[in-house]
Amino acid sequence: MKRKEFISNSTEETLIIAKNFSEELKPGDIVALNGNLGSGKTIFVKGICEGLGAKQNPLSPTFSIINEYNGKYVIYHFDFYRIKDIEELYDIGYEDYFNDQSICLIEWANLFAEILPENHIEVNIEFGESENQRRIVIEEK
Ligand SMILES: Nc1ncnc2c1ncn2[C@@H]1O[C@H](COP(=O)(O)OP(=O)(O)OP(=O)(O)O)[C@@H](O)[C@H]1O
Ligand SMILES: [Mg+2]
Repeated sequence: MKRKEFISNSTEETLIIAKNFSEELKPGDIVALNGNLGSGKTIFVKGICEGLGAKQNPLSPTFSIINEYNGKYVIYHFDFYRIKDIEELYDIGYEDYFNDQSICLIEWANLFAEILPENHIEVNIEFGESENQRRIVIEEK
């Protein structure tokens, strides 16, 4: 996998794209999810969790910063949207999560792109031409 591009025309299609993508994930992978409010980052996380057999229903970790789900691998779900400065990320010990043998899924990762390891996977979701259309680009960095 180097770069893949998809057009999704519904929430369900995005779930399937994410589910298929989850099959390529390995322990230690870090996935940066970028895209505007309501583009579908949490839906994409949901599809990954379904693909990895995690039973919990992902919710945006707005207040907890990190949610944990358990499936084939341990999944850590971050949301950087409300993080004010990098100190907050040091305080929660993000490095321990990144170095773990688990999968890290980070919504709004672009807000603190400087802390991402050089090797990570980027998922960019953009709004398309109609209300339910999205352009999803998955790229290995
Ligand atoms: N093709 C599509 N793919 C994904 N979501 C879609 C699509 N079409 C419509 N939607 C809807 O768009 C919304 C996406 O919400 P979601 O919470 O995943 O966005 P988000 O990117 O996580 O937003 P936030 O930045 O607020 O966390 C959902 O209500 C979903 O049903
Ligand atoms: Mg979200």
